[in-house]
Amino acid sequence: MTHDVIVSAEKLEKVFALGFLRKKVRAVREVSFEVRRGEIFGFLGPNGAGKTTTLKMLMGLIFPTAGTARIFGEPVPSIAAKRRLGFLPENPYFYDYLSGEELLDLMGRLFGLGRAERKRRAGLLLERVGLGRAGARSMPLRKYSKGMLQRLGIAQALINDPELVILDEPMSGLDPIGRKEIRDLIRELKDEGKTVLFSTHILSDVELICDRVAIVVGGRLRDSGPLDQLLSPRLLHTEVVLEAGGQKEAVRLAPELDVDEALRQALAAGKKVVAVTPRRESLEDLFVREVESGDVGAGAEHQTPREAAS
Ligand SMILES: Nc1ncnc2c1ncn2[C@@H]1O[C@H](COP(=O)(O)OP(=O)(O)OP(=O)(O)O)[C@@H](O)[C@H]1O
Ligand SMILES: [Mg+2]
Repeated sequence: MTHDVIVSAEKLEKVFALGFLRKKVRAVREVSFEVRRGEIFGFLGPNGAGKTTTLKMLMGLIFPTAGTARIFGEPVPSIAAKRRLGFLPENPYFYDYLSGEELLDLMGRLFGLGRAERKRRAGLLLERVGLGRAGARSMPLRKYSKGMLQRLGIAQALINDPELVILDEPMSGLDPIGRKEIRDLIRELKDEGKTVLFSTHILSDVELICDRVAIVVGGRLRDSGPLDQLLSPRLLHTEVVLEAGGQKEAVRLAPELDVDEALRQALAAGKKVVAVTPRRESLEDLFVREVESGDVGAGAEHQTPREAAS
C-alpha cells in the first residue's frame, strides 16, 4: 500500500547557541517522520521536548542545523507549498487594535482573495470557531480573552482553505468545552479531506482524535505510528473488585497469576465478585515509560570558552 506523503521530516536537527559562552542546546536531534494525506497526526511531547522548534523548521521560520523537510514534496521553504497550508503559531501575535473580522480580512488579502470572498470566508470561520457574535467579531483584539485569541488563531490558519493545517498547541488556553470544540473542528477538517498536524503535551487530545502520533522527548523522536501499535498490548494487571460483608475491596492481580483460580478462591471464601477488569497500557503509561527511559529536556552541551571561540 502506498501513502501520499504530505509532510516529511528527515533527520531534522536544531542546535541553538546560547549566551556569551555559546553554550549549545540541541533542541531537536535526528527527528524523522511522515504525515500522510487525510490523517490527523499528533506531535506529542512534554514541555521543552522540541515540538515548536520542529514545527518552525517545517514552516521555514528557522533553518535546520542539519536534515531536510519537505511539504507537498517540495523542499522547505517553498512559497508554492505555503499557499496550500495554514499555520497556527504557539504564541500568535496579532495587531491588537484590529478586530477579529479585520484580522481575517487582512490575512485573506495576503492570500490574494477578493473582497467578497474574504468577507464570506471570514464570516464562516468566525462562526465556526465560536466568535460569530457581533460583540466578538468586531471587538478589538486587545479586549479578547486568551481563549478567544486562540480561536481566532485557528480561524486565521484556515482563511486560505488549506489542504494541510499545522497547529502548534491548538487547545492551549482553552477550557474543557473549548478543547472539545477544537477537537471536533479538527475532526471536521479531516472529514473535509484535509491533513492536520498538531502538537500537544496533552495525552487525551491525542488519544481522542489522532490517526498516528510521534512522541518526542528531549529533542529525540522516541516512537511514532498508529496509537494502538505504540501502546503495548501486554496486560499490566487485572483489577478484581470483591465485596464481603458490605465492604468493597480492589485487588490487583499480576499478569502471571491465574485469574480463574483467584476468583474461585474469593468465591470459596464467601466473597462476591463485583468487577474483573484487565488493564492494558494506556497512552499515559506509554508516555511516562518514554519520558522515564529518556533524558527530559533538551540536551545542553557545555563547552569551554576556548572551544567556543575556535
Ligand atoms: N531560540 C532559541 N534559543 C535557544 N534555545 C531555544 C530556542 N528555542 C527553543 N529553545 C530550546 O529548545 C528546547 C525545545 O524548545 P521547544 O520550544 O521546541 O519545545 P516544545 O516541545 O515546543 O515545548 P512546550 O511544550 O513548552 O511548548 C528547549 O530547551 C528550549 O529552551
Ligand atoms: Mg512549544
